[in-house]
Amino acid sequence: MKKNLITVAALGMAVLFTTPAQAGGGSSAAVDTGNLNSALLVSNCVVCHGQGGESQGYTPSIDGLNKNQMISALMDFKSGNRKGTIMQRIAPGYTDAQIEAIANELAGN
Ligand code: HEC
Repeated sequence: MKKNLITVAALGMAVLFTTPAQAGGGSSAAVDTGNLNSALLVSNCVVCHGQGGESQGYTPSIDGLNKNQMISALMDFKSGNRKGTIMQRIAPGYTDAQIEAIANELAGN
């Protein structure tokens, strides 16, 4: 019984600590903008959007977007100006600097 409680607690901690950044975009999140691992950030996106952003179905392909389109789509999801099924939950988890790093990595130009 005690072991079960520990397992549940450990899972709860894992969920807490794997969120990309504090939801709500708190600017106090300590992000070293000079050292963003954009490849790692983008690995979260390709799970749904396909390798390199080329969708295998069910989600839109994002490989055709340029950098500015990518940033404005993510900022709109983050601010709530644009609604979707899932992206408005994902985008707020990233700081503006992380969004720019993601756009650089995925869109490149
Ligand atoms: C859980 C699956 C999932 C993950 C993870 C995910 N997306 Fe999405 N994405 C979607 C879906 C579904 C849509 C369609 C809009 C909606 O329903 O939210 C979408 C839409 C988008 C759009 C708009 C595309 C267009 O044509 O306007 C962009 C840009 C985007 N996602 C970028 C990203 C980036 C960057 C990441 C990683 C930080 C990411 N997504 C992670 C599922 C996902």
